[in-house]
Amino acid sequence: MSLIQPNSLLPIPSGTLDIPNLPTDEPPLRFSLVIPTYKEAQNIPKIVQQLSQLLDAEIPGEYELIVVDDNSPDGTWKIAQELMCDYPQLRVMRRVEERGLSTAVIRGWQAARGEVLGVIDADLQHPPELLLKLWGEIRRGADLAAASRHVEGGGVSDWSVVRRFLSRGAQLVGLVLLPGVIGRVSDPMSGYFMVRRECLVGRPLSPLGYKILIEVLARGKVAWIGEVGYVFQERIEGESKVTWKQYVEYLQHLLRLRLSLGHIGRLLRFGIVGLTGVVVDMGMLYLLSDPNTLGLPLTRSKIIASELAIINNFLWNDCWTFGDIARRQPGLRQRLKRLLKFNTICLAGLVLNVLLLNLLFNVFGINRYVANLIAIAAVTLWNFWLNLKLSWRVTDVQG
Ligand code: GDD
Ligand code: MN
Repeated sequence: MSLIQPNSLLPIPSGTLDIPNLPTDEPPLRFSLVIPTYKEAQNIPKIVQQLSQLLDAEIPGEYELIVVDDNSPDGTWKIAQELMCDYPQLRVMRRVEERGLSTAVIRGWQAARGEVLGVIDADLQHPPELLLKLWGEIRRGADLAAASRHVEGGGVSDWSVVRRFLSRGAQLVGLVLLPGVIGRVSDPMSGYFMVRRECLVGRPLSPLGYKILIEVLARGKVAWIGEVGYVFQERIEGESKVTWKQYVEYLQHLLRLRLSLGHIGRLLRFGIVGLTGVVVDMGMLYLLSDPNTLGLPLTRSKIIASELAIINNFLWNDCWTFGDIARRQPGLRQRLKRLLKFNTICLAGLVLNVLLLNLLFNVFGINRYVANLIAIAAVTLWNFWLNLKLSWRVTDVQG
Protein backbone atom coordinates (compact mmCIF):
# COMPACT_ATOMS: atom_id res chain seq x y z
CA MET A 1 0.00 0.00 0.00
CA SER A 2 1.65 3.23 -1.08
CA LEU A 3 1.57 5.71 1.73
CA ILE A 4 1.20 9.13 0.15
CA GLN A 5 3.63 11.46 1.92
CA PRO A 6 1.78 14.50 3.36
CA ASN A 7 3.76 16.85 1.15
CA SER A 8 4.26 14.74 -1.97
CA LEU A 9 4.07 16.53 -5.31
CA LEU A 10 1.07 16.08 -7.57
CA PRO A 11 1.43 13.65 -10.48
CA ILE A 12 1.63 15.58 -13.77
CA PRO A 13 -1.30 14.98 -16.14
CA SER A 14 -0.26 14.29 -19.74
CA GLY A 15 -1.94 13.97 -23.12
CA THR A 16 -4.68 16.28 -24.34
CA LEU A 17 -5.71 19.30 -22.35
CA ASP A 18 -9.25 18.20 -21.54
CA ILE A 19 -10.91 19.06 -18.25
CA PRO A 20 -12.37 15.85 -16.75
CA ASN A 21 -15.66 15.43 -14.91
CA LEU A 22 -15.29 15.35 -11.14
CA PRO A 23 -14.51 11.88 -9.72
CA THR A 24 -17.61 10.33 -8.15
CA ASP A 25 -15.71 8.36 -5.50
CA GLU A 26 -14.97 11.38 -3.33
CA PRO A 27 -16.94 14.49 -2.35
CA PRO A 28 -15.94 17.44 -4.55
CA LEU A 29 -14.44 20.64 -3.28
CA ARG A 30 -16.19 23.87 -4.15
CA PHE A 31 -13.17 25.75 -5.49
CA SER A 32 -9.71 24.97 -6.91
CA LEU A 33 -7.37 27.93 -7.47
CA VAL A 34 -4.33 27.35 -9.67
CA ILE A 35 -1.26 29.55 -9.11
CA PRO A 36 1.09 29.20 -12.10
CA THR A 37 4.67 30.00 -11.11
CA TYR A 38 8.02 30.56 -12.73
CA LYS A 39 10.78 32.02 -10.51
CA GLU A 40 8.42 33.25 -7.78
CA ALA A 41 10.44 32.10 -4.75
CA GLN A 42 9.99 35.35 -2.83
CA ASN A 43 6.31 35.70 -3.70
CA ILE A 44 4.95 32.21 -3.13
CA PRO A 45 4.90 32.25 0.73
CA LYS A 46 3.05 35.59 0.70
CA ILE A 47 0.41 34.68 -1.87
CA VAL A 48 -0.30 31.30 -0.24
CA GLN A 49 -0.66 32.93 3.17
CA GLN A 50 -2.97 35.70 1.89
CA LEU A 51 -5.14 33.38 -0.19
CA SER A 52 -5.45 30.87 2.65
CA GLN A 53 -6.49 33.57 5.09
CA LEU A 54 -9.20 34.82 2.72
CA LEU A 55 -10.55 31.40 1.73
CA ASP A 56 -10.39 29.91 5.24
CA ALA A 57 -12.77 32.67 6.26
CA GLU A 58 -15.07 32.22 3.25
CA ILE A 59 -15.13 28.49 2.39
CA PRO A 60 -13.06 26.70 5.06
CA GLY A 61 -12.10 23.14 4.12
CA GLU A 62 -13.87 23.36 0.75
CA TYR A 63 -11.09 24.74 -1.43
CA GLU A 64 -7.57 23.91 -2.58
CA LEU A 65 -4.63 25.93 -3.87
CA ILE A 66 -2.60 24.27 -6.63
CA VAL A 67 0.83 25.69 -7.39
CA VAL A 68 1.98 24.58 -10.86
CA ASP A 69 5.66 25.36 -11.20
CA ASP A 70 7.79 24.86 -14.30
CA ASN A 71 10.88 23.65 -12.48
CA SER A 72 11.91 27.18 -11.49
CA PRO A 73 15.67 27.54 -11.03
CA ASP A 74 15.01 29.50 -7.82
CA GLY A 75 13.32 26.44 -6.29
CA THR A 76 9.81 27.92 -6.16
CA TRP A 77 8.30 24.40 -6.24
CA LYS A 78 10.48 23.32 -3.25
CA ILE A 79 9.42 26.33 -1.18
CA ALA A 80 5.80 25.65 -2.04
CA GLN A 81 6.23 21.98 -1.13
CA GLU A 82 7.63 22.95 2.29
CA LEU A 83 4.63 25.24 2.83
CA MET A 84 2.29 22.25 2.52
CA CYS A 85 2.95 21.32 6.18
CA ASP A 86 1.41 24.63 7.29
CA TYR A 87 -1.29 24.77 4.62
CA PRO A 88 -3.05 21.38 4.25
CA GLN A 89 -5.20 22.74 1.38
CA LEU A 90 -2.05 23.47 -0.68
CA ARG A 91 -0.96 21.07 -3.45
CA VAL A 92 2.11 21.44 -5.66
CA MET A 93 2.91 20.25 -9.19
CA ARG A 94 6.48 20.45 -10.50
CA ARG A 95 6.56 20.26 -14.30
CA VAL A 96 9.85 19.47 -15.99
CA GLU A 97 9.08 18.69 -19.64
CA GLU A 98 6.01 20.68 -20.66
CA ARG A 99 6.29 24.43 -20.06
CA GLY A 100 4.32 27.61 -20.53
CA LEU A 101 1.78 29.57 -18.55
CA SER A 102 -1.48 28.49 -20.16
CA THR A 103 -0.71 24.76 -20.20
CA ALA A 104 0.41 25.08 -16.57
CA VAL A 105 -3.03 26.41 -15.66
CA ILE A 106 -4.84 23.65 -17.50
CA ARG A 107 -2.69 20.86 -16.07
CA GLY A 108 -3.49 22.31 -12.67
CA TRP A 109 -7.20 22.30 -13.49
CA GLN A 110 -6.91 18.68 -14.68
CA ALA A 111 -5.55 17.68 -11.27
CA ALA A 112 -8.13 19.84 -9.45
CA ARG A 113 -11.05 18.50 -7.39
CA GLY A 114 -13.17 21.67 -7.32
CA GLU A 115 -16.49 22.46 -8.97
CA VAL A 116 -15.15 25.93 -9.82
CA LEU A 117 -11.68 26.38 -11.34
CA GLY A 118 -9.71 29.58 -10.93
CA VAL A 119 -6.32 31.12 -11.78
CA ILE A 120 -4.32 33.94 -10.20
CA ASP A 121 -0.79 35.23 -10.75
CA ALA A 122 1.70 34.40 -7.99
CA ASP A 123 3.35 37.81 -7.96
CA LEU A 124 0.62 39.70 -6.05
CA GLN A 125 -0.15 41.88 -9.08
CA HIS A 126 -3.65 40.43 -8.86
CA PRO A 127 -5.04 41.64 -5.52
CA PRO A 128 -5.97 38.44 -3.57
CA GLU A 129 -8.83 40.19 -1.79
CA LEU A 130 -10.66 40.53 -5.13
CA LEU A 131 -11.13 36.75 -5.04
CA LEU A 132 -14.14 37.07 -2.75
CA LYS A 133 -15.85 39.45 -5.19
CA LEU A 134 -15.21 37.04 -8.06
CA TRP A 135 -16.54 34.21 -5.91
CA GLY A 136 -19.60 36.41 -5.22
CA GLU A 137 -20.25 36.64 -9.00
CA ILE A 138 -20.13 32.85 -9.27
CA ARG A 139 -22.46 32.56 -6.27
CA ARG A 140 -24.86 34.95 -8.07
CA GLY A 141 -24.96 32.44 -10.95
CA ALA A 142 -22.19 33.53 -13.32
CA ASP A 143 -20.49 30.80 -15.32
CA LEU A 144 -17.28 32.82 -15.39
CA ALA A 145 -16.09 35.71 -13.20
CA ALA A 146 -13.13 37.74 -14.48
CA ALA A 147 -11.06 40.49 -12.88
CA SER A 148 -10.94 43.41 -15.28
CA ARG A 149 -8.68 46.43 -15.51
CA HIS A 150 -11.14 48.11 -17.84
CA VAL A 151 -14.36 48.36 -15.85
CA GLU A 152 -15.29 50.70 -13.02
CA GLY A 153 -12.68 50.43 -10.29
CA GLY A 154 -10.17 48.98 -12.75
CA GLY A 155 -6.80 50.23 -13.97
CA VAL A 156 -3.13 49.52 -14.22
CA SER A 157 -0.67 51.05 -11.77
CA ASP A 158 2.04 53.04 -13.51
CA TRP A 159 2.42 51.06 -16.70
CA SER A 160 4.54 52.74 -19.39
CA VAL A 161 2.70 54.28 -22.35
CA VAL A 162 4.27 51.54 -24.51
CA ARG A 163 2.91 48.72 -22.33
CA ARG A 164 -0.53 50.34 -22.24
CA PHE A 165 -0.43 50.85 -26.06
CA LEU A 166 0.69 47.23 -26.62
CA SER A 167 -1.99 45.85 -24.32
CA ARG A 168 -4.79 47.90 -25.89
CA GLY A 169 -3.40 47.32 -29.39
CA ALA A 170 -3.40 43.58 -28.80
CA GLN A 171 -6.99 43.83 -27.62
CA LEU A 172 -8.00 45.77 -30.77
CA VAL A 173 -6.40 43.17 -33.04
CA GLY A 174 -8.27 40.51 -31.09
CA LEU A 175 -11.53 42.41 -31.56
CA VAL A 176 -10.97 42.44 -35.31
CA LEU A 177 -10.01 38.78 -35.60
CA LEU A 178 -12.32 37.31 -32.96
CA PRO A 179 -15.03 39.88 -32.14
CA GLY A 180 -17.34 37.15 -30.85
CA VAL A 181 -14.74 36.09 -28.27
CA ILE A 182 -12.62 39.11 -27.40
CA GLY A 183 -15.67 41.38 -27.42
CA ARG A 184 -17.36 39.36 -24.65
CA VAL A 185 -15.21 40.78 -21.85
CA SER A 186 -13.67 44.18 -21.22
CA ASP A 187 -10.24 42.72 -20.34
CA PRO A 188 -9.60 39.56 -22.41
CA MET A 189 -5.91 39.76 -21.45
CA SER A 190 -6.74 39.11 -17.81
CA GLY A 191 -5.11 36.12 -16.18
CA TYR A 192 -7.27 36.40 -13.03
CA PHE A 193 -10.64 34.65 -13.28
CA MET A 194 -12.68 31.63 -12.24
CA VAL A 195 -15.01 29.42 -14.27
CA ARG A 196 -17.46 26.59 -13.53
CA ARG A 197 -15.91 23.21 -14.38
CA GLU A 198 -19.04 22.12 -16.27
CA CYS A 199 -18.37 24.90 -18.83
CA LEU A 200 -15.10 23.22 -19.81
CA VAL A 201 -15.80 19.49 -19.51
CA GLY A 202 -15.67 17.82 -22.93
CA ARG A 203 -14.21 20.94 -24.57
CA PRO A 204 -10.63 20.14 -25.65
CA LEU A 205 -8.47 23.21 -25.02
CA SER A 206 -5.39 24.07 -27.03
CA PRO A 207 -4.09 27.37 -25.71
CA LEU A 208 -0.90 29.10 -26.73
CA GLY A 209 1.18 31.53 -24.69
CA TYR A 210 -0.23 33.63 -21.90
CA LYS A 211 -3.88 34.30 -22.59
CA ILE A 212 -5.79 31.40 -21.06
CA LEU A 213 -9.00 33.46 -20.70
CA ILE A 214 -9.33 33.79 -24.49
CA GLU A 215 -9.09 30.01 -24.87
CA VAL A 216 -11.77 29.47 -22.21
CA LEU A 217 -14.11 32.06 -23.80
CA ALA A 218 -13.58 30.63 -27.29
CA ARG A 219 -13.94 26.94 -26.54
CA GLY A 220 -15.89 26.81 -23.27
CA LYS A 221 -19.68 26.77 -22.87
CA VAL A 222 -19.80 30.13 -21.06
CA ALA A 223 -23.14 31.95 -21.05
CA TRP A 224 -23.12 34.35 -18.10
CA ILE A 225 -19.95 36.38 -17.48
CA GLY A 226 -19.43 38.55 -14.40
CA GLU A 227 -16.64 41.15 -14.26
CA VAL A 228 -15.07 42.86 -11.27
CA GLY A 229 -12.79 45.91 -11.58
CA TYR A 230 -9.29 45.82 -10.15
CA VAL A 231 -6.04 47.76 -10.40
CA PHE A 232 -3.17 45.64 -11.73
CA GLN A 233 -0.54 46.16 -9.03
CA GLU A 234 3.13 46.91 -9.39
CA ARG A 235 5.32 43.82 -9.01
CA ILE A 236 7.45 43.98 -5.81
CA GLU A 237 9.62 40.87 -6.16
CA GLY A 238 10.98 39.18 -9.30
CA GLU A 239 10.20 40.32 -12.79
CA SER A 240 7.59 39.81 -15.52
CA LYS A 241 8.26 36.96 -17.91
CA VAL A 242 6.40 38.68 -20.75
CA THR A 243 8.61 39.10 -23.82
CA TRP A 244 7.88 39.68 -27.50
CA LYS A 245 7.42 35.89 -27.74
CA GLN A 246 4.15 36.16 -25.82
CA TYR A 247 2.84 38.80 -28.24
CA VAL A 248 3.71 36.61 -31.25
CA GLU A 249 2.10 33.61 -29.55
CA TYR A 250 -0.97 35.75 -28.85
CA LEU A 251 -1.39 36.50 -32.57
CA GLN A 252 -0.82 32.84 -33.45
CA HIS A 253 -3.40 31.90 -30.84
CA LEU A 254 -5.95 34.33 -32.32
CA LEU A 255 -5.38 33.06 -35.86
CA ARG A 256 -5.61 29.44 -34.74
CA LEU A 257 -8.89 30.16 -32.97
CA ARG A 258 -10.13 32.17 -35.94
CA LEU A 259 -9.47 29.24 -38.28
CA SER A 260 -10.92 26.65 -35.94
CA LEU A 261 -13.98 28.72 -35.07
CA GLY A 262 -14.83 29.23 -38.73
CA HIS A 263 -16.01 32.38 -40.62
CA ILE A 264 -12.43 32.91 -41.78
CA GLY A 265 -14.00 33.33 -45.20
CA ARG A 266 -15.88 36.46 -44.21
CA LEU A 267 -12.83 38.09 -42.66
CA LEU A 268 -10.65 37.10 -45.60
CA ARG A 269 -13.21 38.43 -48.08
CA PHE A 270 -13.43 41.72 -46.16
CA GLY A 271 -9.65 41.96 -46.37
CA ILE A 272 -9.61 41.26 -50.14
CA VAL A 273 -12.34 43.85 -50.73
CA GLY A 274 -10.30 46.27 -48.63
CA LEU A 275 -7.35 45.67 -50.96
CA THR A 276 -9.43 46.59 -54.01
CA GLY A 277 -10.38 49.74 -52.10
CA VAL A 278 -6.68 50.50 -51.56
CA VAL A 279 -6.08 50.21 -55.31
CA VAL A 280 -9.01 52.57 -56.04
CA ASP A 281 -7.89 54.99 -53.29
CA MET A 282 -4.22 55.04 -54.34
CA GLY A 283 -5.02 55.15 -58.05
CA MET A 284 -7.46 58.05 -57.68
CA LEU A 285 -5.06 59.88 -55.29
CA TYR A 286 -2.38 59.66 -57.98
CA LEU A 287 -4.73 60.75 -60.81
CA LEU A 288 -6.09 63.69 -58.81
CA SER A 289 -3.17 64.97 -56.72
CA ASP A 290 0.11 63.99 -58.40
CA PRO A 291 2.00 66.96 -59.87
CA ASN A 292 2.29 64.97 -63.16
CA THR A 293 -1.51 64.57 -63.48
CA LEU A 294 -4.24 66.94 -62.25
CA GLY A 295 -2.17 68.23 -59.28
CA LEU A 296 -5.27 69.04 -57.17
CA PRO A 297 -4.75 69.84 -53.44
CA LEU A 298 -3.94 66.71 -51.36
CA THR A 299 -6.90 66.77 -48.91
CA ARG A 300 -9.52 67.38 -51.61
CA SER A 301 -8.00 64.61 -53.76
CA LYS A 302 -7.89 62.28 -50.75
CA ILE A 303 -11.56 62.86 -49.89
CA ILE A 304 -12.70 62.15 -53.48
CA ALA A 305 -10.39 59.10 -53.77
CA SER A 306 -11.60 57.70 -50.43
CA GLU A 307 -15.29 58.24 -51.20
CA LEU A 308 -14.90 56.31 -54.46
CA ALA A 309 -13.04 53.58 -52.55
CA ILE A 310 -15.84 53.45 -49.94
CA ILE A 311 -18.49 52.96 -52.63
CA ASN A 312 -16.32 50.34 -54.31
CA ASN A 313 -15.90 48.49 -50.97
CA PHE A 314 -19.58 48.70 -50.08
CA LEU A 315 -20.67 47.16 -53.38
CA TRP A 316 -18.22 44.26 -53.07
CA ASN A 317 -19.00 43.70 -49.36
CA ASP A 318 -22.74 43.83 -49.91
CA CYS A 319 -22.60 41.34 -52.78
CA TRP A 320 -19.81 39.08 -51.56
CA THR A 321 -18.46 39.45 -47.98
CA PHE A 322 -21.83 39.90 -46.32
CA GLY A 323 -23.86 38.76 -49.32
CA ASP A 324 -25.57 35.96 -47.38
CA ILE A 325 -26.90 38.49 -44.84
CA ALA A 326 -27.66 41.20 -47.44
CA ARG A 327 -29.70 38.80 -49.57
CA ARG A 328 -32.11 38.42 -46.62
CA GLN A 329 -32.76 42.18 -46.85
CA PRO A 330 -33.55 42.62 -50.58
CA GLY A 331 -34.60 45.89 -52.18
CA LEU A 332 -32.99 49.19 -53.09
CA ARG A 333 -34.19 50.94 -49.92
CA GLN A 334 -32.54 48.40 -47.61
CA ARG A 335 -29.36 48.51 -49.70
CA LEU A 336 -29.26 52.32 -49.56
CA LYS A 337 -29.76 52.08 -45.77
CA ARG A 338 -26.79 49.73 -45.54
CA LEU A 339 -24.76 52.01 -47.84
CA LEU A 340 -25.60 54.98 -45.61
CA LYS A 341 -24.48 53.14 -42.47
CA PHE A 342 -21.37 51.78 -44.18
CA ASN A 343 -20.55 55.21 -45.57
CA THR A 344 -21.07 56.94 -42.20
CA ILE A 345 -18.78 54.52 -40.45
CA CYS A 346 -16.21 54.70 -43.22
CA LEU A 347 -16.46 58.52 -43.33
CA ALA A 348 -15.54 58.60 -39.64
CA GLY A 349 -12.66 56.37 -40.68
CA LEU A 350 -11.96 58.77 -43.58
CA VAL A 351 -11.58 61.68 -41.17
CA LEU A 352 -9.17 59.53 -39.18
CA ASN A 353 -7.43 58.60 -42.43
CA VAL A 354 -7.02 62.23 -43.59
CA LEU A 355 -5.76 63.31 -40.15
CA LEU A 356 -3.30 60.44 -40.02
CA LEU A 357 -2.15 61.08 -43.62
CA ASN A 358 -1.54 64.76 -42.94
CA LEU A 359 0.17 63.98 -39.63
CA LEU A 360 2.49 61.43 -41.21
CA PHE A 361 3.10 63.47 -44.42
CA ASN A 362 3.26 67.05 -43.15
CA VAL A 363 4.53 66.53 -39.58
CA PHE A 364 6.72 63.42 -39.84
CA GLY A 365 7.69 64.02 -43.50
CA ILE A 366 6.85 60.44 -44.51
CA ASN A 367 6.41 59.84 -48.27
CA ARG A 368 2.77 60.57 -49.15
CA TYR A 369 2.07 57.08 -50.51
CA VAL A 370 3.69 55.26 -47.54
CA ALA A 371 1.83 57.59 -45.19
CA ASN A 372 -1.41 56.84 -47.03
CA LEU A 373 -0.87 53.09 -46.74
CA ILE A 374 -0.22 53.31 -42.97
CA ALA A 375 -3.33 55.47 -42.55
CA ILE A 376 -5.43 53.05 -44.60
CA ALA A 377 -4.23 50.02 -42.58
CA ALA A 378 -5.14 51.68 -39.26
CA VAL A 379 -8.56 52.68 -40.54
CA THR A 380 -9.27 49.22 -41.99
CA LEU A 381 -9.24 47.70 -38.51
CA TRP A 382 -11.64 50.46 -37.40
CA ASN A 383 -13.98 49.91 -40.38
CA PHE A 384 -14.15 46.12 -40.09
CA TRP A 385 -15.04 46.05 -36.47
CA LEU A 386 -17.61 48.87 -36.53
CA ASN A 387 -19.30 47.61 -39.69
CA LEU A 388 -19.49 44.12 -38.29
CA LYS A 389 -21.07 45.51 -35.12
CA LEU A 390 -23.40 48.03 -36.85
CA SER A 391 -24.04 47.85 -40.57
CA TRP A 392 -24.58 44.24 -41.41
CA ARG A 393 -25.20 42.84 -37.91
CA VAL A 394 -28.12 45.27 -37.27
CA THR A 395 -29.53 44.53 -40.71
CA ASP A 396 -29.27 40.85 -39.99
CA VAL A 397 -31.20 41.23 -36.70
CA GLN A 398 -34.04 43.11 -38.49
CA GLY A 399 -34.26 40.12 -40.85
N1 GDD B 1 4.15 27.61 -14.68
C1 GDD B 1 4.47 28.73 -15.34
N2 GDD B 1 5.13 28.63 -16.54
N3 GDD B 1 4.10 29.95 -14.82
C2 GDD B 1 4.46 31.07 -15.53
C3 GDD B 1 5.16 31.02 -16.75
C4 GDD B 1 5.50 29.72 -17.27
O1 GDD B 1 6.08 29.60 -18.34
N4 GDD B 1 5.35 32.31 -17.17
C5 GDD B 1 4.80 33.12 -16.24
N5 GDD B 1 4.27 32.37 -15.26
C6 GDD B 1 3.56 32.86 -14.08
C7 GDD B 1 4.34 33.89 -13.29
O2 GDD B 1 5.13 33.25 -12.31
C8 GDD B 1 3.21 34.69 -12.67
O3 GDD B 1 2.69 34.03 -11.54
C9 GDD B 1 2.13 34.68 -13.74
O4 GDD B 1 2.40 33.53 -14.56
C10 GDD B 1 2.14 35.94 -14.62
O5 GDD B 1 3.42 36.03 -15.20
P1 GDD B 1 4.10 37.50 -15.35
O6 GDD B 1 5.38 37.30 -16.05
O7 GDD B 1 4.11 38.16 -14.03
O8 GDD B 1 3.06 38.22 -16.34
P2 GDD B 1 2.68 39.78 -16.29
O9 GDD B 1 2.85 40.37 -14.96
O10 GDD B 1 3.35 40.45 -17.41
O11 GDD B 1 1.09 39.71 -16.46
C11 GDD B 1 0.46 39.58 -17.71
O12 GDD B 1 0.16 38.22 -17.92
C12 GDD B 1 -0.60 37.66 -16.85
C13 GDD B 1 -0.85 36.20 -17.16
O13 GDD B 1 -1.69 36.14 -18.24
C14 GDD B 1 -0.81 40.40 -17.66
O14 GDD B 1 -1.48 40.29 -18.92
C15 GDD B 1 -1.73 39.87 -16.59
O15 GDD B 1 -3.04 40.44 -16.73
C16 GDD B 1 -1.92 38.38 -16.72
O16 GDD B 1 -2.56 37.89 -15.57
MN1 MN C 1 3.08 39.75 -13.15
